[in-house]
Amino acid sequence: MTSTPASLHDPAPVFSHRWCRVNDWLVRHQPLWRPVPFSEPAPAWLRDYPALADWLEAMTDQECDHWTDRPEAFAREAARFISDLAEYGELVAVPKLTTPEKAQAAALPEVRAVDMPGRKRLQAGAFAAALSPLNGNLVDWCCGKGHLARTLAGQGAESVLGFEWNAELVNDGNRLAQHYGDPVQLYPQDVMANDLTWPAAGHGVALHACGDLHRQLIQSGSAARATRLSVSPCCYHLMASTQHRLLSEAARNHARPLTMDRSALRLAVQETVTAPARERRKAAVVSVWRLGFDALQRHLRNVEEYLPVPSHPTRLNTGDFEGFGRWAAQNKQLPLPAGVDWHYWRTAGERRLLQVRRHELLRHLFRRPLELWLVLDYAMFLQEQGYEVRLGAFCERSLTPRNLLLDAIRPG
Ligand SMILES: C[S@@+](CC[C@H](N)C(=O)[O-])C[C@H]1O[C@@H](n2cnc3c(N)ncnc32)[C@H](O)[C@@H]1O
Repeated sequence: MTSTPASLHDPAPVFSHRWCRVNDWLVRHQPLWRPVPFSEPAPAWLRDYPALADWLEAMTDQECDHWTDRPEAFAREAARFISDLAEYGELVAVPKLTTPEKAQAAALPEVRAVDMPGRKRLQAGAFAAALSPLNGNLVDWCCGKGHLARTLAGQGAESVLGFEWNAELVNDGNRLAQHYGDPVQLYPQDVMANDLTWPAAGHGVALHACGDLHRQLIQSGSAARATRLSVSPCCYHLMASTQHRLLSEAARNHARPLTMDRSALRLAVQETVTAPARERRKAAVVSVWRLGFDALQRHLRNVEEYLPVPSHPTRLNTGDFEGFGRWAAQNKQLPLPAGVDWHYWRTAGERRLLQVRRHELLRHLFRRPLELWLVLDYAMFLQEQGYEVRLGAFCERSLTPRNLLLDAIRPG
């Protein structure tokens, strides 16, 4: 993570200037990130930047792995072909809001972190440390079993309410809080409900609440004049509407704002698969089959168009490409001629998978700028509602890639 010196509350123009810069950069480079490599083998940028395409496609697997973990260095290299990519590092730089030592100290001790996976314990600790000092009454939004609530209770909060719609989690969480004597009370509550009442002078917190849920906290919390709103968003694409709606006036009044639908928003949270090697190998086999079938169906239908194939029955996993191909053809009602050369089309799938990985390297460079585009809009919205806002990272990306934290305080 690149960091600029930790700032306190950024003055308003910083966010709007930054948002415009990120927006315009993303708009300019849409041809590089809109096409999905899995379904588009020949995006227009291959013709526009042939030297970039050659460099990517000539990469070894080791080089690919190397660049995958180093997006900023990759952007600097790729800037040899598209000079604008050199801006990447500056575009994604955010201040660090705490240190690993403070995060560790704020985390629940392991013996009290019942039912709490190790990473969640440290994430909650880092989130709490980044918000320190805490006081008053907090509302943990979509609290699950209240792990964050219990962590915050140990960091100066007088009391923490939790809203969660899963009654089982609420019961488990209340039992845990009672057992450990934490000033935490969870309530079964749908946070999207119209009748939700905000506690007076509450501080709303949300760690990894998805799309509409975190936007609801930002909008309903600010409308209820919450004293403070602290949000680490995730899964931006999980929303009821198909089209993303910008929250801030500043973004909506921009001359050319990016337009994003639900499926394009997925890019912001798409992760490079870090499953164990055995799982990765299995996933690669299925990808080869799907890409091989895609090449075959394009040939048979004589159409350069991706044909989405639904999830296949798991029994096919122990079979071979031909078994998968025959099932997929039947599913898509595609008649197969006699004597399909299955070996040939499987090899075509293998070639495509190599290409997909290399094209994804370039496309994935746009994930973090896109995430910042979304969160900077939230920051500007909260400023428009009268809050002083800071935006930064509450932990390293290795602990969670969703490490952005928006912290808005109503002055006075
Ligand atoms: C990704 S989890 C985050 C949980 C917790 N903040 C954490 O970091 O451990 C999202 C939680 O939101 C809850 N949830 C989803 N939709 C909800 C709604 N409409 N109202 C209340 N809770 C909801 C889910 O049951 C789940 O516990």
